[in-house]
Amino acid sequence: MNLIFLGPPGAGKGTIASIVKEAFSVPHISTGDLFRANIKNETELGKQVKEILASGNLVPDEITIKMVENRLKEDDAKSGYILDGFPRTVAQADALKGMSNVDYVINFVLDRETILKRLSGRRVCKSTGRTYHILYNPPKVEGIDDETGEPLIQRDDDKEEAILNRLEVYEKSTAPLIDYYRAENLLIDLDASKSPEEIFEDLKKIVK
Ligand code: AP5
Repeated sequence: MNLIFLGPPGAGKGTIASIVKEAFSVPHISTGDLFRANIKNETELGKQVKEILASGNLVPDEITIKMVENRLKEDDAKSGYILDGFPRTVAQADALKGMSNVDYVINFVLDRETILKRLSGRRVCKSTGRTYHILYNPPKVEGIDDETGEPLIQRDDDKEEAILNRLEVYEKSTAPLIDYYRAENLLIDLDASKSPEEIFEDLKKIVK
């Protein structure tokens, strides 16, 4: 099963992907996570994209497409995947056609007010990427990762200015993909305002 998770920042794509990957035994390929791992490991790519991520702008298409092309060639992606955060531009969607067939594009639908609440309250464990929310999914001990015991951080791009820029970038560059994939009969809208458990149940009915 080859799935694309499409939707605005903070809609819950990563949260649902981490449930689906276990249930369907497919890798969760998040371009945001791949870039953040490169930044953390101080690779050449990481140095190139660090400022771009912090600002909330998009990494240039050619860099992103190459990274995804390489990732999809890995063995674990041969029998299915969840692509989270890719494609994000029409050029990326066109390039994906030459790499792989897509079964469903799941469009996470969420209002702006809820998006802002989710992003401003998000906290993450830097080493594992595990995601929490100060209200909706708090850690057992405030500010500490449940498993590693490390302090939780706020992503640079979850600061107010970057959030507003990400929403603008989404509307301009990524939202056109809704019509793009609807025209190909691949798009399915998913109400992302429910609890993760309810969303997962809805998703299972869709992709059955
Ligand atoms: P990326 O990491 O992909 O960021 P994003 O798309 O903005 O998505 P997020 O990770 O912010 O949100 P999410 O939908 O996964 O929500 P989450 O599950 O965490 O990309 C980061 C950057 O990398 C980009 O800005 C760009 O610079 C670059 N980049 C990445 N891909 C690129 C591409 N293809 N091309 C160019 N550049 C690219 O949930 C959010 C919060 O809500 C959490 O706190 C969570 O606990 C909570 N929550 C989640 N679901 C629920 C729920 N159902 N109920 C209550 N709370 C919930």
